[in-house]
Amino acid sequence: ARRIIIDTDPGQDDAVAILLALASPELEVIGITAVAGNVPLALTQTNARKICELAGRPDIKVYAGAVRPLMRRLVTAEHVHGRTGLDGPTLPDPTMPLQETHAVDFIVETLLAEEPGTVTLCPLGPLTNIAAALNRAPEIAGRIKEIVLMGGGFFEGGNVTPAAEFNIYVDPHAADIVFSSGVPIVMMPLDVTHKALTTAKRVAAFRALGTRVGIATAELLEFFERFDEEKYGSDGGPLHDPCVIAYLVEPGLFRGRNCNVAIETASEITMGMTVIDWWGVTDRPKNATVMRDIDADGFFDLLTERLGRL
Ligand code: BDR
Ligand code: CA
Repeated sequence: ARRIIIDTDPGQDDAVAILLALASPELEVIGITAVAGNVPLALTQTNARKICELAGRPDIKVYAGAVRPLMRRLVTAEHVHGRTGLDGPTLPDPTMPLQETHAVDFIVETLLAEEPGTVTLCPLGPLTNIAAALNRAPEIAGRIKEIVLMGGGFFEGGNVTPAAEFNIYVDPHAADIVFSSGVPIVMMPLDVTHKALTTAKRVAAFRALGTRVGIATAELLEFFERFDEEKYGSDGGPLHDPCVIAYLVEPGLFRGRNCNVAIETASEITMGMTVIDWWGVTDRPKNATVMRDIDADGFFDLLTERLGRL
């Protein structure tokens, strides 16, 4: 199985991503690291544990990381995710422990201890923890197999400002460090995730699983999609973060190209913009595989089948 660390700020879509990972035998989740993002850290680390318990996996190790971005004040998204970050279903308070080790220490120590090229990082929130790990121990860069992340947008524009996607906007300096690190990156921008809509039919398929996980997933998504349905007038909302995990399980669901991605960290009006050289008009190094298309039906079929296993 491919060994992964999920770095996350749950978030309903983060929660579904965690469930998909825990349901997939192709993946071994060696740890979940929480970061401040959608809601403050105290909630994201609790939410991560709630989801592990929902999945029947209280053995998963969950670590708490950064409470705020490297340089800017924390911006959260309660208007999308609700006050708890996981509004929708009623999930019990977790009883599994939070690990004592700091998330950044866990990431650094794991990468230094494991065979180089065997651990993949899956960031689903602001990149603060990952950048802090790269700052603390730059030698880990050459040991990371790949970073597969949700963030950014290009032809689709931004979702928090006209130019920027939430995860990159919240900590653009961290994103800049990650995209400059030389680690191979696969990026799932809004251009992909806005094609992965939680239509009524797809949500009904989760509910029809009839399991605790299936019903909780439907409840999470029904809460989550209100915001985008209202904003974009779509049937359903974009299921962002599970795209990262689905790529690791079934890469053929996605199409994109390798190009240069640069992060705007100076101008306030375009702060956190992912400037993607899709057409290769610069000679800047190709530092990321930027996905642009998804087989959305295949993606939801995979999700439904996998969540049915939990
Ligand atoms: C990203 O921001 C968060 O609100 C979601 O969990 C996702 O990671 C989408 O812009
Ligand atoms: Ca997220």
